[in-house]
Amino acid sequence: MSQHTAGIAHTAQEVTGWWRDAVIYQVYPRSFADSNADGMGDLEGIRSRLPHLSDLGVDAVWLSPFYASPQADAGYDVADYRAVDPMFGSLLDAEAVIRDAHALGLRVIVDLVPNHTSDQHEWFRRALAEGPGSPLRARYHFRAGKGARGELPPNDWESVFGGPAWTRVPDGEWYLHLFAPEQPDLNWEHPAVGDEFRSILRFWLDMGVDGFRIDVAHGLVKADGLPDLGAHGRLRLLGSSDAGLPFFDQDGVHDVYRAWRPILDEYAGERIFVAEAWTPTVERTALYVRPDELHQAFNFEYLVAYWDAVELRDIIDRSLDAMRPVEAPATWVLSNHDVTRHTTRYANPSGLGTQQRVAAEPALGLRRARAATLLMLALPGSAYLYQGEELGLPDVVDLPDEVRQDPSFFRADGQDGFRDGCRVPIPWTAGGPSYGFGAGGSWLPQPEGWGALSVEAQTGVPGSTLEMYRSALATRRTHPALGAGDTVEWLQAPAGVLAFRREAAGDGDAFVCVANTTGEDVRVRVPASARILLTSLPAAEGVKAGDGAALVPADTTVWFSA
Ligand code: GLC
Ligand code: CA
Repeated sequence: MSQHTAGIAHTAQEVTGWWRDAVIYQVYPRSFADSNADGMGDLEGIRSRLPHLSDLGVDAVWLSPFYASPQADAGYDVADYRAVDPMFGSLLDAEAVIRDAHALGLRVIVDLVPNHTSDQHEWFRRALAEGPGSPLRARYHFRAGKGARGELPPNDWESVFGGPAWTRVPDGEWYLHLFAPEQPDLNWEHPAVGDEFRSILRFWLDMGVDGFRIDVAHGLVKADGLPDLGAHGRLRLLGSSDAGLPFFDQDGVHDVYRAWRPILDEYAGERIFVAEAWTPTVERTALYVRPDELHQAFNFEYLVAYWDAVELRDIIDRSLDAMRPVEAPATWVLSNHDVTRHTTRYANPSGLGTQQRVAAEPALGLRRARAATLLMLALPGSAYLYQGEELGLPDVVDLPDEVRQDPSFFRADGQDGFRDGCRVPIPWTAGGPSYGFGAGGSWLPQPEGWGALSVEAQTGVPGSTLEMYRSALATRRTHPALGAGDTVEWLQAPAGVLAFRREAAGDGDAFVCVANTTGEDVRVRVPASARILLTSLPAAEGVKAGDGAALVPADTTVWFSA
């Protein structure tokens, strides 16, 4: 973990393994803070709010894309990887964010989007202009169509956002896009593509970033000949035993990361890669974090698990077991910019998926979300937080269709694509225009009542969600038994309850976590020495511990020192 007073220097050669138990906070730039009242968050807004993140106690910040982009997919369509979009500021502003973050002891991870460019990227524009046979077309996947006049797409792949994964250009060829048509997939078999991305890595490493989050890390390499999906039929990203998708999780993708790792290792300061890799199993995910590849991968199976002790224990065990042989830390995540916030997911029954437009029982959702957060932060390894979850923000489930911007919303007949609900600009102050997000409006409307959830309204209020997060992160710093290591020792507990013990190597710091996922109070055996450190309830009322037993209320997590 970082020393907040010392700042981050890239000159020290000492190996700290800071990332192995780091808590990393995701900033979604357009929705974090707006410095110039245009309703859109920006880098100067981020810079001005960095003290909130150091006060919160996180170790690093991951910034979603702020590069030059036509914003067809909120910046995940990059037109120039070495430029900042004017809507977010300039390269100087990016440098200022990195410098100020380092001075506050925060590391900075930026997003890298190597699977596809924007259709406005110079390569793609030239590829289109130069026509069939142009060498630039070979950097993407251009093909002739099927059918007598080439009027059918080259294969049967579907875009993740809905509709065919191919678009036909005026000269008759088709190009592949696993996401929106404005996001043509790069051809990673072409040497110029690899050269370009190695150079982009150096550009940002030279600027001082501490690492990269790799977008669609499982997608870069496609199966030879781009074979039809055929019987596989539907896109399944998780939990399918057949690792058969010809465009995801191909073995060849690991060569890309083996070529990247030495570049990172040339730079001082233990810089890291984290993969956004949706794979069928945690064992497949572990392949991305072998010692000569990436450092971490998001644990999406954990994210999609419900607030259910059996499901959670299963994925916790399988994650730790999968990561141990490759010596990578397990990671944990509950929310990000692509899924319904966990406060809202847990307000609903299980089985609704990650994109939801309802919040059946909001108070229950928040209570469970707080309990889930304390469970997550007690596990060994590294945890990812998404901006606003420290405020207990729910998804905004009633955004009018006409303000939605998620490209998948428009491509799936409104059946899916509700990612805007977790992207509403966050409230900093109890009142004022856009609740302190900026001096003007906000690009998505904020709901009434957002002010009561603001940083200002929750700061210093005992038991507020923000103070719970602050206490939890402070406790992680003072109790090394929380994040460290790679095992949990499960304790006996009633059905629906997770109880485990952790011990820091060497210094005898021991810790017990009890998470009650049921709707009933439970009595749990804990070591006689157990003392309550923190609970997910607004006040410790209801939790009792003594004589080797603890009473833990419904949907509550309790941390004990033991
Ligand atoms: C990743 C991003 C998501 C984006 C997609 C295409 O999944 O997290 O926001 O739409 O990649 O780049
Ligand atoms: Ca702005």
